[in-house]
Amino acid sequence: MSIIFIFLFISIVHSDIPLDVPSFSIDLDHAPIDRWSDIIPNFAQPMNEFNIAIRAQIPQVFIDAAEIIVTRLEEHIPQPYHDELYSIARSISMPLADIVLINLVYELRTYCTSLLVRTSNNTIIHGRNLDFDLNTDLLRRLTFHVKFFRTSNPTFNYESIHFAGSIGLLTSSRSGYFSLSINQRSTDDKDWWMNALMSILHLHSLPLFIITRSIFDNSIMSYQDMKYILQNRHLIAPVYFIITDGRSSGMIITRNRLNSINPIELNSTLVQTNYDHWLDDPSNDPRRTAAENILQSFNSTQMTQDNIFDIVLSVIPVLNKLTVYTAIMNPGEKQDIFAKIRTLKPRQ
Ligand SMILES: *[C@@H]1O[C@H](CO)[C@@H](O)[C@H](O)[C@H]1NC(C)=O
Ligand SMILES: *[C@@H]1O[C@H](CO)[C@@H](O)[C@H](O)[C@H]1NC(C)=O
Ligand SMILES: *[C@@H]1O[C@H](CO)[C@@H](O)[C@H](O)[C@H]1NC(C)=O
Repeated sequence: MSIIFIFLFISIVHSDIPLDVPSFSIDLDHAPIDRWSDIIPNFAQPMNEFNIAIRAQIPQVFIDAAEIIVTRLEEHIPQPYHDELYSIARSISMPLADIVLINLVYELRTYCTSLLVRTSNNTIIHGRNLDFDLNTDLLRRLTFHVKFFRTSNPTFNYESIHFAGSIGLLTSSRSGYFSLSINQRSTDDKDWWMNALMSILHLHSLPLFIITRSIFDNSIMSYQDMKYILQNRHLIAPVYFIITDGRSSGMIITRNRLNSINPIELNSTLVQTNYDHWLDDPSNDPRRTAAENILQSFNSTQMTQDNIFDIVLSVIPVLNKLTVYTAIMNPGEKQDIFAKIRTLKPRQ
């Protein structure tokens, strides 16, 4: 009953036309300084608009701090990632400090829903809506699907649903190995920007864009290794990691800067938004409860990719006006990420 009602509600009051995501590939055998130079010029216009928009929204002190970090980048951002950032900056003639700042904005402002669902044929579907509360329309124009591969190692590849200018991974799958999605963890920290920058400068904590790429770029990384790193590495900000090996295990890791608290393992379904799983949803954000209620109404044969897309991730409020894209990963099935850009708007 309630599901039917929600469908009617969507079709009458809102319109959402799912759009295809442009696709690119990156050969990791290419020099890091050249890796992004074919892709980034396609996004020069929205990247410039996004850069202007965040500069207007972020206090000057943080921009100054990013510039300090950049002048000492060699110390804080290891290769090959330093050269990749430089390659992005060079290919659209933007200062390196702006590219570092854009990478931090992307990873610290991901207001999302992620879910893990065990299917009847023993695979695990990893779904996510990426919601972004700054300049949502611009983010839609900055989204693309990228396949990373190595000519020298035909068995190695992984994919990401990506925002132009970022080198890190927010929604990424390595077929046969694991998938990862990252959700922002809300805190009362008013100085989150400054604290993030200070922990790079003074505590040598690595930003997620380095940690995530180091995991996926490493051909001998196992699910267990990834789990250990994500639970133990010092971070620049609290966050949730949603991970699965696609076949037997999945979990939600809730992180502080220094440690993991109350990790939970997947039984049949898990949903994570931007609130700790041991707390109730806040009354103004029913996304997790809504997704959980729909999943609980499914029997095991209904746990399919189509249903996760149509009946869970396309239902208001799980789908909302801040949703930039929906992605469904299934690393156990060795299939590409299925993704659509979302455009929910009240009907005129
Ligand atoms: C999964 O099942 C175990 C054993 O029944 C239980 O202790 C645990 O709380 C369950 N996890 C979740 C996330 O429901
Ligand atoms: C699951 O639910 C669907 C839709 O209500 C139904 O057609 C199907 O028979 C159910 N399957 C099982 C195993 O209960
Ligand atoms: C397993 O289930 C998924 C989701 O229903 C489906 O897409 C896939 O084709 C199934 N795989 C096999 C081997 O049956």
